[in-house]
Amino acid sequence: PERVFSGIQPTGNLHLGNYLGALKKFVALQEAGRECLFCVVNLHAMTMPVAPADLLDQTRQIAAAFLACGIDPKKSAVFAQSSVSAHAELAWIFNCVARMGWVERMTQFKDKAGKDAERASVGLFTYPILMAADILAYKATHVPVGDDQKQHLELTRDIAERFNRDYDAPGFFPLPEPLIQGPGARIMSLKDGTKKMSKSDPSELSRINLVDTSEEIAKKIKKAKTDLLGDMPSDVDGLKGRPEVENLVGIYSAVTGESVEAVLRQFGGQGFGAFKPALADATVAHLAPITQRYRDILADPAEIDRTLAAGAERAEAIAAPILSDIRRTVGIWQA
Ligand code: TYM
Repeated sequence: PERVFSGIQPTGNLHLGNYLGALKKFVALQEAGRECLFCVVNLHAMTMPVAPADLLDQTRQIAAAFLACGIDPKKSAVFAQSSVSAHAELAWIFNCVARMGWVERMTQFKDKAGKDAERASVGLFTYPILMAADILAYKATHVPVGDDQKQHLELTRDIAERFNRDYDAPGFFPLPEPLIQGPGARIMSLKDGTKKMSKSDPSELSRINLVDTSEEIAKKIKKAKTDLLGDMPSDVDGLKGRPEVENLVGIYSAVTGESVEAVLRQFGGQGFGAFKPALADATVAHLAPITQRYRDILADPAEIDRTLAAGAERAEAIAAPILSDIRRTVGIWQA
């Protein structure tokens, strides 16, 4: 059976990349009637230093963002990673399945650890193993993510394959498919079309946050970098070598649902003075109701906690028999 799983880290503000690359796709999968689990991966957020009170607040914020974007807790399980202990236990088992060489290849560790990798937490290094555990604790078959998670999904498949082979359990774990499609899969910085939009970019002008006001969004789009190659191109070929323009057109396409070709047919030959205000309007129109719902939901943290508790129960009910099978398969004693 098909099962969708994805997670978002409770670290800082969500931005348009998180929304278009992940959240918006979660809602589409839910509305297509798929069985979905959406997880606030609070254990992952501990891989970088974070104050306990902030971790707790941010966990509720991500849960609120899920709901504000249209995740319906009656249809999808919305829960915190820490509330289902199978994640942590399976991560340990996978620590013993994955090989050092596989994890050492992960580029995100190198990016996040920076120059002084010796001082990074061990958790940051084994981060992708916990991610494999998140997915496989539910035998999830489909994982909607942005393009930056592709390598982690490949590792997840390697771990599943190796487990199935080493324990002589063919087909025990499915090999989960990444769902990384469309113009939203890789949203770039508004200041540099070769860098992805990111929570950690020091420039606020590089990203649009889900909590930005309409004025802030309009200002950031107005100041977004373009290039000196002239007007908007009228076809996809004309986007080659113009990463900033390609990114803005991709955002327009993702928020309006029009194809990139259609957007270029409409704006081709015009200057950015026409396109940017249209992009700002379309983005604001799409985000404003989400931002409003987000604020309303956050005003009632007790209700968020009830939602997370109910989601945890559903997730636990799926994971418990799978974990029990895993223990039996690897020879871990259980009563
Ligand atoms: P995180 O919390 O960094 O990001 C959440 C989601 O947003 C996507 N994303 C982007 N998509 C398009 N353009 C961008 N500029 C952009 N920036 C971020 C990410 O690809 C992600 O889908 N390791 C994951 C969290 C995780 C997870 C999992 C995901 C933990 N366990 C299991 C799927 C399944 C992460 O750090 O995402």
